[in-house]
Amino acid sequence: MGFATNAIHVGQEPDPATGAIVAPIYQTSTYVQEEFGKYRQGYDYARTNHPNRKALEKTLAKLEGGHSAYVFTSGMAGIDSVFRLLRPGDHVILSEAVYGGVYRLSTQLLVHFGIEFSFVDTSAPELVMASMRPNTKMVYVETPTNPTMRVTDIAAMAKVANDRNVTLVVDNTFLSPYLQRPIELGAHIVVHSMTKYLNGHSDATGGAVVLTRPEDSEKIYFIQRSAGAGLAPMDCFLISRGIKTLAIRMLQHNANGIAVARHLDAHPKVRKVYYPGLPTHPQHEIARKQQRGPGAMISFDLGTEEAAKRFLNQVKLCSLAESLGGVETLISLPAVMTHASMPKEVQERIGITEGLVRLSVGIEDVEDILADLDQALLYV
Ligand SMILES: Cc1ncc(COP(=O)(O)O)c(C=O)c1O
Repeated sequence: MGFATNAIHVGQEPDPATGAIVAPIYQTSTYVQEEFGKYRQGYDYARTNHPNRKALEKTLAKLEGGHSAYVFTSGMAGIDSVFRLLRPGDHVILSEAVYGGVYRLSTQLLVHFGIEFSFVDTSAPELVMASMRPNTKMVYVETPTNPTMRVTDIAAMAKVANDRNVTLVVDNTFLSPYLQRPIELGAHIVVHSMTKYLNGHSDATGGAVVLTRPEDSEKIYFIQRSAGAGLAPMDCFLISRGIKTLAIRMLQHNANGIAVARHLDAHPKVRKVYYPGLPTHPQHEIARKQQRGPGAMISFDLGTEEAAKRFLNQVKLCSLAESLGGVETLISLPAVMTHASMPKEVQERIGITEGLVRLSVGIEDVEDILADLDQALLYV
């Protein structure tokens, strides 16, 4: 079956108890035993598992082409679970322009548990190779990176990882499995903030971990039920509902993204546009090779923080907010919003300038998005 069919039907079967075409929200914390030690369908307690979670996990494993998937209360909870596969003394190489929350989790929390982290430009496989240590156990890649849109060649990175027997983790949040399938390119684990495109409607938070190896799957399920960050029934229901339209939403996001990026690139007030779909992007060819489209995440530089703030205060259709991947166009200033936890010198090194604006292009009529951006750019 094709992607859109799978997104609508896999894990989204009618409710076996009633035939309801949409399975109900199993809003219960516990499950009654038929007789001592015997459960009707294997569910005993909602922290451990529940039907809405199981359904969503089945859909995700299918869409990413994995062996199994587990869902968590947020993207960060899922990513934290992946790092818990490690032991004190292990070393991880991460994309240097990683999401600010991942930077904070690793440098301010997990370092205290004896895990070592190096931040490297993963768009250059030779730099990753040179950063390997005898205790390196994981390479963690975000591609494209948030918010600088740097692209890593996943297949090349998988080769580097496999040569050293290291686990390759790819954060696929910015593109969703519709536009990029990292497991087909050799990734061992895929993570998502489902808060973004997978849900798509800005009404729930969630994280996903998709595995390819049964041994990782067992460990992640153990972490999920032991640490208790598994996703609740209502949120699973909302995200399962959102995924049904993922294919068609991503098509429109992608088309709008291309149109907006081209428009901004030609605008005299915009100093630089960061978007893998532009031929001037340094990894344009890699993006063309491994992505089904450039997506709808765009960053652009307005020169100074003052200019960026004047612009952000004038947008009307675009919503000034954290997050991305919703049907509505969202706009933000990474240096003081999503990436505020990153020290200034790190921001400067990786290109998060004070005037860098991040745009998550929604699926409104593109003419309306362009008109709003144009009127706000008059104030720059
Ligand atoms: C690329 C990326 N990964 C992970 C996360 C974390 O996800 P969540 O906010 O759902 O915890 C985010 C959040 O913005 C993100 O942009």
